[in-house]
Amino acid sequence: MSIEREDDMRKPLVAANWKMHHTQASASAYLRRLVELVPDDPPLELVIFPPATALHIAKAELAGTKIYFGAQNAHPDPKGAFTGEISILQVADLGARFLLCGHSERRLLFHEDDEFVAAKVRAAIKWGLVPILCVGEKLSDRQAGRTWSVVQQQLVASLTGIELKNPAQLVIAYEPVWAIGTGVPALPADVQDMARRIRGWLRQTLGDWAEEIRIQYGGSVTPENARDFLQLPDIDGALVGGASLDPETFWVIAQAGVR
Ligand code: PGA
Repeated sequence: MSIEREDDMRKPLVAANWKMHHTQASASAYLRRLVELVPDDPPLELVIFPPATALHIAKAELAGTKIYFGAQNAHPDPKGAFTGEISILQVADLGARFLLCGHSERRLLFHEDDEFVAAKVRAAIKWGLVPILCVGEKLSDRQAGRTWSVVQQQLVASLTGIELKNPAQLVIAYEPVWAIGTGVPALPADVQDMARRIRGWLRQTLGDWAEEIRIQYGGSVTPENARDFLQLPDIDGALVGGASLDPETFWVIAQAGVR
């Protein structure tokens, strides 16, 4: 595809979603290697999402670097009787700068509904974290021609009435559910089409800031295909799962986002 980027106002953001992987020792070894690989002043934003059990390791290993970390999950209430949960205040206290909201694994496996996702987005902003709002259709939606209506409904449900102080306070990740962890990524042309529609919706809702809000692609991103997504005009980064579990591979992917 020969679509060239024109702008540079959205710094690419490439994120590693470790999901339920890495122990304390392997998290520490990963982050030390990543810090060796990445220049002191990286040409793009890098964010690591360790499991909650390694957030303190990320805090220690990434201190003094320009590599950020975030939480894969947090309860929107700052405290309360929620056995087993970790609160937005607690992850903010650990230094998390980002929060994944609405990831399809949380929606489908842990039954998080739109209302709860919306509460997380609001809580993240309130406590000074940047929510990465994941949206995306299931295969059955795509086959039924409902791709945009499903994504639009997720945007409406999570972002209506949202108040931002600046456009860096929100990131959207377009992640088709059928592409996550399957080795079958979406087609770049389809991803660009969805990202353009998402940006159009953001423009209607948030005005000119839509041009500055970053939209990532996620779903089976690898070193081989990263450039096809990361250089699309309306895509400003990637949310990487499986291929982010090794620091060298993750850094190769991230570099495909440099422009
Ligand atoms: P994947 O996961 O890269 O393994 O497909 C992406 C994600 O879940 O965000």
